Amino acid sequence: MLRTKTCGELNSAHVGQTVTLAGWVDKYRDHGGVVFIDLRDRYGITQVSFKLDTASEIQEIAQELRHEDVVQVTGEVVSRGEGNINPKLSTGEIELLAKTVVLLNKSRTPPFEPRGETLPNEELRLQHRYVDLRRPALQRNMILRHKLTKAVRDYFDNLDFLEIETPILGRSTPEGARDYLVPSRVHEGSFYALPQSPQLFKQILMVAGYDRYFQIARCFRDEDLRADRQPEFTQIDIEMAFVEYDDILDTVDGLVKAMVKSARGIDFPTPLPRYTHAEVMEKYGTDKPDLRFDLPIANISDLVGDSDFGVFKNTVEAGNFVRGLCIKGGADKYSRRILDNDLKGLVGEYGAKGLAYFKVTDGKLDSSIAKFFNDEQQQAIIARMQGENGDLLVFVADTWKVSCAALAALRNFVGKDQQLYDPKAISCLWVVDFPLFTWNAEENRWDAEHHPFCAVRPEDEGYFQTDPGKIRAQSYDLVCNGYEAASGSIRIHDPAIQQRVFDLLNITPDEAERRFGFLLNALRYGAPPHGGIALGLDRWVMLFAGCDNIRDVIAFPKTQRASDLMLGAPSEVDARQLRDLHIKLDLPEENA
Ligand code: AMO
Ligand code: AMP
Repeated sequence: MLRTKTCGELNSAHVGQTVTLAGWVDKYRDHGGVVFIDLRDRYGITQVSFKLDTASEIQEIAQELRHEDVVQVTGEVVSRGEGNINPKLSTGEIELLAKTVVLLNKSRTPPFEPRGETLPNEELRLQHRYVDLRRPALQRNMILRHKLTKAVRDYFDNLDFLEIETPILGRSTPEGARDYLVPSRVHEGSFYALPQSPQLFKQILMVAGYDRYFQIARCFRDEDLRADRQPEFTQIDIEMAFVEYDDILDTVDGLVKAMVKSARGIDFPTPLPRYTHAEVMEKYGTDKPDLRFDLPIANISDLVGDSDFGVFKNTVEAGNFVRGLCIKGGADKYSRRILDNDLKGLVGEYGAKGLAYFKVTDGKLDSSIAKFFNDEQQQAIIARMQGENGDLLVFVADTWKVSCAALAALRNFVGKDQQLYDPKAISCLWVVDFPLFTWNAEENRWDAEHHPFCAVRPEDEGYFQTDPGKIRAQSYDLVCNGYEAASGSIRIHDPAIQQRVFDLLNITPDEAERRFGFLLNALRYGAPPHGGIALGLDRWVMLFAGCDNIRDVIAFPKTQRASDLMLGAPSEVDARQLRDLHIKLDLPEENA
């Protein structure tokens, strides 16, 4: 070893010992011949001093040291003495008095300093990811990620699950995003698809008798990226046979408990609360509510249909809804200007045509439109909203869909803006009983809400003919701090029901056979009842790390435009490689 200790472990107990450290020069200060170096590795920082009485050639090397040079220093651990202790460093009581120093490698002047005061733009950091990854914040995230995956593996191992790898080169999977394709050289004109998830393989593993499967699985989806999405991401993928709905939820409750224990060291209360899809849409307007704070949506449609306020009256008459939020103590927090511009603009982004608002003053509604509501109506609204003097009541009058989207966004804004929660808190819930199908008005057809293999609630089977929108799936999402953190279902193992689902989705028997024939075939050879779920590992690390950028928890992430700026990927390839694959490019002219 080129070192006997790390830069994070020395303290006053080591005073008097001779040790060797190796690491990167984090900071250097030359006080007229006495040189101080902060030496850094992933364990911490240790101050090294080169005193005037050190041999001159050593002092010479020390004076030449610059940011990010790699050095090895041997010396004596000495106490810093009263006035010089740095309580911010775990090694702050001591320093290393250098006796010898070896410059292991000179660094070019780095594009930025890993512990610099200001972060440079992300593009520069991604181009030089090796420097960026030296930042303590990113190192903490990588360590957290390692710990979490270890906790996951231990948890499943204890429960007799097997970790089984499934192929990366496969066929298209039905998760609904675009596939990444890989051309085959051997099979001219044919392509592999990278897996959007191991969905089909894990179901086949159940047929094959591996009744408890998990995998830390890489998934690939060519979709529009957002702050919580990467084209290449990792799932904690799970499938179990001979189980029912509750068994999967219980198993994942235990997993979340183990992950929280590993990340935060606390006993997280389980079982996690369960809400139906209908409940969360009613109360929070979204299927991924952030329950770190309450702020529920209330519906006043039944109270305002016969008021004199045209906007509300007409909305209710058209069969639509007037719903709103009660912002506690909000009366003097949001000025008219903010309400009429910023908040109205925010709900407008979700299609709302306006935002009506009232203060509660002296037990009555107070605003320019209050006059349209008689006393009785005012009292009923205040009671429904659980309003008190000083509260602000805001309403959107619109279709169910628009009022849900607009109020969910407003709720999130207010929660954050009014600091209604501790940003470090973790709040999880299950959302169950999703509809199996959603109506796609643009394309005039039914779409699968999750994927076409979700089992149906037996009591809803009658709706196939009458009202498919009412069919509830045996599916569940796990929502954490407003993110969809896991999603899964009990699967269909009865070919007849599978056929009815395909029929409704307009997947012809030919097409089903072509796309998922291998799965349908497997299901015909003794498929046990089974179900599963997948957790988005990157999102869980984000939540535990308390960051809101998924790139900060992935060692080598891609940009919003799906490029790797360090590698320069994707890239052009040799004409020869294309020839081998029988591929001719046909680019739009401006790119050619
Ligand atoms: P689903 O498509 O909902 O389900 O994915 C499961 C979980 O994976 C995470 N996730 C992502 N994370 C980062 N970047 C992305 N682009 C991304 N897409 C999804 C989310 C999500 O909840 N095969 C099914 C699971 C099953 O039914 O068992 C599936 O893949 O946290
Ligand atoms: P108007 O009658 O259009 O001048 O609107 C009167 C008030 O009602 C304004 O504060 C509008 O923002 C609000 N408003 C208009 N349409 C809606 C709506 N669909 N939902 C809630 N408030 C609305």
